[in-house]
Amino acid sequence: MPEVGVAAKGPIKGLGRAVIFLGPPGAGKGTQARQIAQDYGVPHLSTGDMFRDHVSRGTALGLRAKPIMERGELVPDDLVLSMVEERISRPDCADGFILDGFPRTLPQAERLDEILQRRFQTRPLVVHFVVDPAQLMRRLTGRRTCAIGGEIYNVYDQPSKVPGRCDRDGGELIQRPDDREEVIAERLAAYERQTRPLVDYYRRQGVLQDVNGMAAPAAVTKSVLELLAQKR
Ligand code: AP5
Repeated sequence: MPEVGVAAKGPIKGLGRAVIFLGPPGAGKGTQARQIAQDYGVPHLSTGDMFRDHVSRGTALGLRAKPIMERGELVPDDLVLSMVEERISRPDCADGFILDGFPRTLPQAERLDEILQRRFQTRPLVVHFVVDPAQLMRRLTGRRTCAIGGEIYNVYDQPSKVPGRCDRDGGELIQRPDDREEVIAERLAAYERQTRPLVDYYRRQGVLQDVNGMAAPAAVTKSVLELLAQKR
């Protein structure tokens, strides 16, 4: 295994379990999940990215999800669950995977527990990103995402070298439609109402670990890699 916190030359061999990245919008879940899934060679399953893909392809699911996402509300559990269940049944998830943005409600968490017990006979590890709420609006209004590869930037804190263009592939950097202030406020409220209770749910199960999400991105990555190495 490569030294913790040092970019791996090739994938470390699987996670062996489901790892959930839990935290409010803007906590850094996507930023960390992209990097760490690559280090471990496991799938990064972002339900937000899956829905955005359906929206851009104009599928039936995308047409139902689009107005809900534009209001900053959560998509109904049944739609999310069938999409996730299908995805994690694919062979590439056999050595573990990272869930980013799922589960987000108690029914989603309970259903995931059943699926993991039945399919993998394991409990998840939950990494809870703790971030000062005052930081979240700035992070989200400043976020820009590469239209080609999905690389995540921030115009205030992690700008690209050439404004508006991705450092990796030159793709256009775009702002998500739900990263407008009034929608962000609703997303943060939805988190408090529907998702924060999962922190207690998983803490009671003894599977949740807090990580300081206020540190610089590379330092957060190091903390998560150390945690995953300890829990292997
Ligand atoms: P989703 O795409 O999951 O959005 P989210 O949970 O609101 O999370 P974000 O992607 O906004 O934040 P993040 O924590 O990934 O932060 P990031 O790393 O990008 O969901 C979108 C919508 O889809 C939902 O509103 C809902 O409608 C629907 N949906 C999705 N899943 C669902 C589900 N399970 N159930 C029901 N509905 C669902 O970072 C943010 C910014 O901060 C970036 O600019 C980044 O550069 C910067 N940053 C990151 N880390 C740091 C750091 N350490 N220091 C400083 N800046 C940092």
